[in-house]
Amino acid sequence: MGEELMNRSNKQVILNNYVKGSVNESDMSVRTSTISLKIPEGQDGAVLVKNLYLSCDPYMLNRMKKVEGHYVDSFTPGSPITGYGVSKVLDSSHPNFKKDDLIWGFTGWEEYSLIKDPSQLFKIQETNVPLSYYTGLLGMPGMTAYAGFFELCSPKKGETVYVSAASGAVGQLVGQLAKLSGCYVVGSAGSNDKVDLLKNKFGFDDAFNYKEEQDYNVALKRYFPDGIDIYFENVGGKMLEAVLNNMRLHGRIAACGMISQYSLEQPEGVHNLLNLITKRIRMEGFIVFDYYHLYPKFLEMVLPHINQGKITYVEDVAQGLESAPTALVGLFSGRNVGKQVVVVARE
Ligand SMILES: NC(=O)c1ccc[n+]([C@@H]2O[C@H](COP(=O)([O-])OP(=O)(O)OC[C@H]3O[C@@H](n4cnc5c(N)ncnc54)[C@H](OP(=O)(O)O)[C@@H]3O)[C@@H](O)[C@H]2O)c1
Repeated sequence: MGEELMNRSNKQVILNNYVKGSVNESDMSVRTSTISLKIPEGQDGAVLVKNLYLSCDPYMLNRMKKVEGHYVDSFTPGSPITGYGVSKVLDSSHPNFKKDDLIWGFTGWEEYSLIKDPSQLFKIQETNVPLSYYTGLLGMPGMTAYAGFFELCSPKKGETVYVSAASGAVGQLVGQLAKLSGCYVVGSAGSNDKVDLLKNKFGFDDAFNYKEEQDYNVALKRYFPDGIDIYFENVGGKMLEAVLNNMRLHGRIAACGMISQYSLEQPEGVHNLLNLITKRIRMEGFIVFDYYHLYPKFLEMVLPHINQGKITYVEDVAQGLESAPTALVGLFSGRNVGKQVVVVARE
């Protein structure tokens, strides 16, 4: 083992302090440390990886806060942030992984990571697609769209579907799955360019810029005069309140995320919940972790659609670890157009 493999410089994105309310670039810093590219003696069951693509995901803001009893642990100030990524195995002491394997799953926001517990990593088998897709369409957000839409919403042909944050990592796939299921689908997003993408790239039947609407109730009545059967909830807050008023009898709401609340120190309350009762609506929250057993089934469904051009995906690609803090912060003002990815290295 050459000296240069034993001690390689390793750029990392560090959380400076716990975040309160909204996140800023100054909450993170980029520092360079060193790492041995060989798994330490006696460290069984680990993999040493080179990180290629990192995923910026809204839930990461919640991990930057000091919260106890959350479904995922808070990050540790002074240490590298962790998140989903696509990586290449450089060394392995785990029987399921070997050098040069490509994987996706939890890794560090750094150039190289020693992953001591690889049990949550997925081996990438299909490389005939952009590898970065395993941070989005073929990774956690894709699985989220699939599980949330099919497992929770039970769509039927001809039903009406509304998707908020529709041009993002999850939403763009939900809309396309809804179309493939024979539903009528409308999405909302925060700019006219995103609305254009929804209608002309992802095939939504219609779309609107929620930032241009004075009254969400009026907007939803315009697009759903007979009401909404399925709402794929990504934003929460005032939009959820308006949706509740516009749901149909026996409607389903998949509560996937509520990004409008993540930057608030005090979450807002929700009006109009009585609709849940009077219209017999089923609103159910979910976390993608609980559905990873369906991943092979998801791949079997989605890969042929990608190959036939029936499912498409838009990514917003930031270059280099230095750009990662800005890219992550941008999610909360809608700066990203499509799935926000950070390229650390291409191979
Ligand atoms: N339950 C799960 O397991 C799970 C897994 C993955 C993601 N999620 C959730 O799914 C949702 C979408 O995630 P994603 O990865 O697809 O993110 P994304 O849509 O790619 O990026 C976030 C988008 O949210 C919108 N947004 C930001 N602040 C907003 C606000 N105050 N009000 C309304 N919209 C706002 C912005 O788009 P606009 O320009 O359109 O405003 C932004 O581009 C999030 O709530 C996330 O937490 C849940």
